[in-house]
Order: sequence, then C-alpha cells, then structure tokens
Amino acid sequence: MPVDGNRAAWDDASLKHVREYDDLLEQARTATLLPAERELLGPALASAPEVVHLQSGHGLDDAALVRAGARSVVGVDFSAVAVTAARQRAVDLGLPCRYVVGELPGAPLRDGCADLVYTGKGALIWLPDLRVWARDVARLLRPGGSLFVYEAHPAAPLWTWDADEPRVRPDRGYFERSHVNDSFPARGAVESQATLGEIVTAVVAAGLDLRHLAEYPDPFWRPDDADAAAWRGRLPNAFSLLAVAR
Ligand SMILES: C[S@@+](CC[C@H](N)C(=O)[O-])C[C@H]1O[C@@H](n2cnc3c(N)ncnc32)[C@H](O)[C@@H]1O
Repeated sequence: MPVDGNRAAWDDASLKHVREYDDLLEQARTATLLPAERELLGPALASAPEVVHLQSGHGLDDAALVRAGARSVVGVDFSAVAVTAARQRAVDLGLPCRYVVGELPGAPLRDGCADLVYTGKGALIWLPDLRVWARDVARLLRPGGSLFVYEAHPAAPLWTWDADEPRVRPDRGYFERSHVNDSFPARGAVESQATLGEIVTAVVAAGLDLRHLAEYPDPFWRPDDADAAAWRGRLPNAFSLLAVAR
C-alpha cells in the first residue's frame, strides 16, 4: 500500500488549510456538528468526554466537539502540514485541543486515553486494513467509551456526478479493494475500499458492541460546482456508526 504516496498527496492537499488559514479560522469560530452527530453524540458529550479525533485534518470538527461539550480533543493525523495548521488554530481560538503527527493504525497515544474516539468524513478510505484500525481504536478507549464514525457510504464512490440522473461509474465496483482518487482534495492518491459489512465486522471483531448503524442519502461533502442526481435522496451516500467498549 503506497502510504508514503498518500501522505505526500495529503501534505499537498493540506496546504489548502494553510492558504485558507484565516477563512478556516472564521469557520472554526462557529463550526457545529451535523444534526445526526449532535443527536447520536448527545449522551456521550453530556459527560464532558476526553476525545481522540483520528485523521483530524483541518480540525474544524474539534472546535465543534468542544462547543458541544467535549472537555478536550487530541487530533491525530499523518500530515504535518494539517497538524501544524490545526494546532495554530486551536491556539488562536484558545481551544483545549492538541495535535499529534502520527500514522494510523498505531496512534502514538497511550492505551485507554479516550472516552470518545471520533472519526470519519473522508477518513476510512485511507486505511487498507480496518481490522487493525479497529483494534487500535479499541486500545485507545476506556471501558464504556464510544467509537463514533460519520463517513461516506462505501457505495458512494460508485455514483457518477451526472446532474440529470444517477448512474453507476463503469470503472468502479463495490467489491473492489481500491481505486485512485480523481476528485479534490487528494487527487491521485490510492483509496482503499471496504464494504459496509466489512467495516461493521471489523468494529465488532475488535470487541466493541455495536449500538447504532444508519445510512443517509446526503453526502457529508459536496464540491462547490457539482449537484449530482445521485445525491438527491435515492441512494446511500453517508453512514453513521456508534459502538461501545466493554
Ligand atoms: C478527508 S481528510 C478528513 C479529515 C477530517 N475528518 C476533516 O474533515 O478535515 C482525511 C485525513 O486523513 C489523513 N490521513 C490519511 N491517511 C492517514 C493515515 N494512514 N494515518 C493518519 N492520517 C491519515 C489525511 O492527512 C487527512 O488529513
């Protein structure tokens, strides 16, 4: 698996977080979680959890997590560019968030350090072995702690972005293992594919109890210039998952 190539692609893509630093800083001042996230994470956030955000990227979700009740957030990402920008934003906003450069699986954090592991929104496709990732998540969680994922549905890369009607891309298959990213932000990087069944099975096999799984028609992200028919309610484009450590 070309991890170094993907890291280079992400360092390059993350320069956007630096170029648009001021704009993202403003967005971070008012960032909120998605409605489904607020509903599902409500009970966990009510107890002021210590959160670990895996593949934290620009870190806007960390500001939202703190605003929603998190006591602290530790973001982990293998892009030093992304980590440096997110770290500076947290300092500028006085947020209880800190950031660590680290490659997953194998987060450089101690066992049992998290009440909540939060991830998604373009994260899982960069991990070729979700069984190893899930074991790493289980290691980070305290007993009773939660894993929360809000992520692109594994079927979403199959849809064309045609505006007139939904179509399946002729060059992709749901059961393939990988494909090359051909849209912003990480154009050219190799994405791994896992089915929804494989994702759930990885989480359960790591010893976590599945509490919730839902699929949604709306994508978590839409490029500015696209309005695909595949995003208008007929097809799955996102999912959420909540699981609890014993
Ligand atoms: C699409 S971004 C999503 C991040 C975050 N959810 C956000 O909205 O900014 C994916 C992130 O995963 C990071 N990443 C990809 N593969 C990784 C790996 N193996 N280990 C750690 N970070 C990784 C990238 O650097 C990038 O910041």
